[in-house]
Amino acid sequence: MSEWRNSMLLSVLLLLAGSASAFVEELDDSFMETRGDEDIWLIKFYTPWCSFCRQLDPVWHQIGSELTSRGSPVHVGKSDGSTSPGLSKEFKVRGYPAILMLKKNVKYNYSGARTKEAILDFANRVGGPLVRSLSSVQLFQHAMSHHDVMFLYIGATSELKGNFTSSAEELIVHTYFFSASRDVLPKAVSLPSLPAVVVFKDGSYFQYEGETRTSLRQEPL
Ligand SMILES: *[C@@H]1O[C@H](CO)[C@@H](O)[C@H](O)[C@H]1NC(C)=O
Ligand SMILES: *[C@@H]1O[C@H](CO)[C@@H](O)[C@H](O)[C@H]1NC(C)=O
Repeated sequence: MSEWRNSMLLSVLLLLAGSASAFVEELDDSFMETRGDEDIWLIKFYTPWCSFCRQLDPVWHQIGSELTSRGSPVHVGKSDGSTSPGLSKEFKVRGYPAILMLKKNVKYNYSGARTKEAILDFANRVGGPLVRSLSSVQLFQHAMSHHDVMFLYIGATSELKGNFTSSAEELIVHTYFFSASRDVLPKAVSLPSLPAVVVFKDGSYFQYEGETRTSLRQEPL
């Protein structure tokens, strides 16, 4: 009887371990051919002998489970650079562990703190829309109170918005990008003309002039 109980316990533990690890997929060199084009991936590159990689294991597991339970579109994976060197090369990994995201064929390198919160923030930021629409005064104020620096496009669709969005594609690793209509901004914000790109920082704001792509890049983030 106790033997039966032990074997039952073992199966339960194995099944739980199996379903738990399903939150994180092991990716090999076939990944780039087999993935879906629209899929968004957060990937940890590691090697078996790297101790910083092992320290990241529990964090990675929690990230996988949290994104899955939230129904996030971000898939979580890991890849062993010693057995799948091709994939590490594809992502230009130079040291382990490395954390990268892949979205619409663009690769994003994570270089922040290796904590669950910081990595989840990165995954949600990069995994979400490039430019987030703030469609009401409430949403604008909520965003203002949660972000130290805010890049905001104001106005209707335009060439400037196209440039703003393509800047976001590259710079979203550093910060969030938003869009809004004039009427959700405080009256005190004076904008001589629309459309406009405005950055809010520490309670003040300034407007970008000229060529957006260049000026946004020059801004140290
Ligand atoms: C990614 O970021 C890390 C940490 O800052 C850096 O060491 C590494 O060279 C970067 N990798 C790529 C491919 O840019
Ligand atoms: C958009 O970017 C293009 C290419 O960099 C530039 O020539 C154009 O002036 C920009 N347009 C606006 C409105 O910023």
